[in-house]
Amino acid sequence: MTDGHKITMLGTGLIGMFYTMTIHSQRGRDRVVNIFSRSKERAEKFAGEWNIPKYSTDLDEALNDPDSDVVIIGIPNHLHKEAVVKAAQAGKAVLCTKPLGRNAAEAREMLQAVEKAGVFSGYLEDLVYTPKTLKSLDSVKNGALGRILWVRSRETHPGPHSAWFWDKEMAGGGAIIDMGCHCVEIIRNFIGKEIKPVEVMCWADTLVHQIDAEDHGIGLIRFENGSMGQFEVSWAFRGGMDLRDEVAGTEGTIWLDHFLRTGFQMFSSVGQGGYVAEKAEGDTGWLFPVGDEVQELGYRHMFVDVFDALEKKTEPMETFYDGYVVNAIIDACYKSAATKQWEPIKLDIWRGKELSMIEKSAELIDGKYLLVKEEVMPDGRVKLILKDKDSGKIVQKIK
Ligand SMILES: NC(=O)c1ccc[n+]([C@@H]2O[C@H](COP(=O)([O-])OP(=O)(O)OC[C@H]3O[C@@H](n4cnc5c(N)ncnc54)[C@H](O)[C@@H]3O)[C@@H](O)[C@H]2O)c1
Repeated sequence: MTDGHKITMLGTGLIGMFYTMTIHSQRGRDRVVNIFSRSKERAEKFAGEWNIPKYSTDLDEALNDPDSDVVIIGIPNHLHKEAVVKAAQAGKAVLCTKPLGRNAAEAREMLQAVEKAGVFSGYLEDLVYTPKTLKSLDSVKNGALGRILWVRSRETHPGPHSAWFWDKEMAGGGAIIDMGCHCVEIIRNFIGKEIKPVEVMCWADTLVHQIDAEDHGIGLIRFENGSMGQFEVSWAFRGGMDLRDEVAGTEGTIWLDHFLRTGFQMFSSVGQGGYVAEKAEGDTGWLFPVGDEVQELGYRHMFVDVFDALEKKTEPMETFYDGYVVNAIIDACYKSAATKQWEPIKLDIWRGKELSMIEKSAELIDGKYLLVKEEVMPDGRVKLILKDKDSGKIVQKIK
């Protein structure tokens, strides 16, 4: 067991705070030793609140701090590439928040930078680490759902909390890059990351806000084995943050609700004067508080996995390569939204399987029929829908 890692954290915003809260909670041995912010006041205040010995307002100085071995990037999307490249050059282990890049070209440069420098890296995609998701992924891996056919992932809320998110140039897009990146990676995890995503069909529009980027998007991602991913994102959903996933397989189904209907509902006529949960719209009336937000959003399991991998010199569950694939899928989504056509996903680097055939198997009945479906009718009869394997004709029989 090592003494734990010493971290330089870039960013004192929402994610810098959630990450620091997670790492410093529950007597963990990893510590943030240097916090970077552009503003001295904010850096000083954050350092005081979280018991961090040093702060910095100079990015290069923070990245090259000899006292830290890990850099965590929690600053806006347009700054990820520069921070990753410089951290890799400084020989630090690099952990970067989502989305990895604003597009696949940036993500590829980041991937190549860490691989060239030979430093450890991890893509901080927390939503595949929620305890419910981890358990669901285990069930899928163990075959409980059979072959995965269709995964639907939804993230909607009333819109982000800082100006830069709404600026298409800084963010790399709107709701699709911001939240679709989570959905895409959830979908890939359930379908199987080794299965190649091949093409997308996407709708994007700006229905509500005065911005150039999209505030809504729906996308379909077709995988090489025929499985389908479907994401839905909105920056204008009313009622808090809606995070839901549905997984459909040949032998089973999983429905996940992460944030609004977790089994904790509260009513207050007067409120408690403040924060209830991320993106909650108020603190009175019926409320959906979240027991332990950093746990339920996956941050805790994510950092355990990443730091374990760093110590064991293995790969974390989410890598920079995964971040690159997510960016490539989103690039194709933006293209499809513009052309209104199915668009191919351009993956210059593919490290998964080349081809995975759809396996359709069926029980043979009376040596002549393939079983399509069996159903018990209201009158108790059991009806079989069958396909004649020679003629191809669909028939029905009572069992
Ligand atoms: N679930 C998640 O994984 C999750 C959630 C929220 C945000 N994020 C990601 O984290 C990153 C930061 O988002 P946030 O919500 O913390 O944003 P935020 O606006 O709350 O905080 C951004 C931080 O970056 C600093 N910053 C802003 N502009 C800068 C500049 N030009 N130069 C240097 N520093 C600058 C700000 O001072 C602040 O400390 C984004 O990439 C975002 O996509 C991830």
